[in-house]
Amino acid sequence: MKSIILAAGKGTRMKSDLPKVLHEIMAKPLLGYVLDNVKNIADESFVIVGHQAEAVEKFVNQNYSNVKTVLQSPQLGTGHAVSMVCPHLVDFDGEVVILCGDSPLITEKTLRDFVQYHKSINSDITVMSTIVENPTNYGRIIRDIDNSLECIVEEKDASVEQKNIKEVNAGIYCLNWNKIKDAFSQLTTNNAQGEYYLTDIIEWGKLNKLSVNAFILANKEEVYGINSRANLAEATKMMNERKLNQLMVDGVTIVDPGSTWISEDTVIGSDTIIYPSTYIEGKNKIGKNCKIGPFAHLRGDVEIADNVKIGNFVEVKKSKINSNTNAGHLSYIGDSEIGSHVNIGAGTITANYNPLTKVKSKTILEDNVKIGSNAVLVAPVVIEEGANVGAGGVITKNVKSWALAITRAPLRVLENWVKKN
Ligand code: UD1
Ligand code: MG
Repeated sequence: MKSIILAAGKGTRMKSDLPKVLHEIMAKPLLGYVLDNVKNIADESFVIVGHQAEAVEKFVNQNYSNVKTVLQSPQLGTGHAVSMVCPHLVDFDGEVVILCGDSPLITEKTLRDFVQYHKSINSDITVMSTIVENPTNYGRIIRDIDNSLECIVEEKDASVEQKNIKEVNAGIYCLNWNKIKDAFSQLTTNNAQGEYYLTDIIEWGKLNKLSVNAFILANKEEVYGINSRANLAEATKMMNERKLNQLMVDGVTIVDPGSTWISEDTVIGSDTIIYPSTYIEGKNKIGKNCKIGPFAHLRGDVEIADNVKIGNFVEVKKSKINSNTNAGHLSYIGDSEIGSHVNIGAGTITANYNPLTKVKSKTILEDNVKIGSNAVLVAPVVIEEGANVGAGGVITKNVKSWALAITRAPLRVLENWVKKN
């Protein structure tokens, strides 16, 4: 099985310098969601790039090894986009799934059900459809009197009567490639937008006596497409709600789902409590019985073991924190490895970035280390097992096991100074 992801369009309505598919939901680009959901279904995927191709290519090449990018220039429509892949699949005999790069809510399970349906009825072309209250802008599914699929009519080509149809094209297809590949050299631009429409393969299939079918998806949320900033906010909310509900089913307490944001790629163990106004983005793993927040910010690549407490106004990035460790208040923990039974006092900062060299360095706190309040740990730095750092310390050198590091100026108390002055 191969997959093709359409991502060459401009995304005009985003009013952005960034290509639409690289806009992010909780620190992951829209295209990343689609690619993650097909990666266990297709052994190879093709992303059609066009508008700002280099940026999209860079994201794909850096993050996905079994995904190729294919340039479409100029962009003459969705059918034209798919035809760009034909030279790569000349000898391919199997199924091809087509998706849009701007619809991140589709799940792997739905894609599996969709492909399963296509195979079980020996379909040649299967299109995913769904029923929506407001079908504006979608292609409408036109059915025969016997209810079989006839064609798809785009909004701009639809008659008044057709515009009332609420079954719409979700933009996801499964094709028996050998039987359908010839269609792509035969599409025309005979329509209101003067484009090669991918949707015309339905009619082509009918004409060529292929088995053409629709798979009606009950949960229309999954095919929500993003065309504007408002759509992006709505999709973020839907994605978050879905995640929080799943976490609660799995035994995580979310005190206030209304103010909590947790990315799809965050795994959380049971009996962990997430307090209000917590924002967790990117890829993270949190253990059992932890307390996170209120007002905590996990920025990705964070691994937290069991019984850890991350409290108010604590920001954590790219760090490993072992079990029974606390960082209760007002801290920044970045590029760090922290052992178990460590206590990080209020206001502790890992100074991980050198703005002169632009190098980020690591802070390592071994087991049982105690850091006093308001300490600055200037990385690279290692605080060995059991060592203590006094409050207010600025630690620029490694500290040996069980030592105390203290950088405080001696305290002076001048008796009656206030009265005298
Ligand atoms: C398309 C479908 C419509 C369906 C809707 C679902 C067609 C003709 N219409 O309409 O039936 O209801 O999706 O969301 O297919 N793209 C390219 N190259 C191009 C043109 C588009 O790669 O030359 C990409 C876009 O980046 C986008 C996707 O294809 O990811 C869909 O294009 P878009 O213009 O958004 O199509 P719709 O008008 O939404
Ligand atoms: Mg369009």
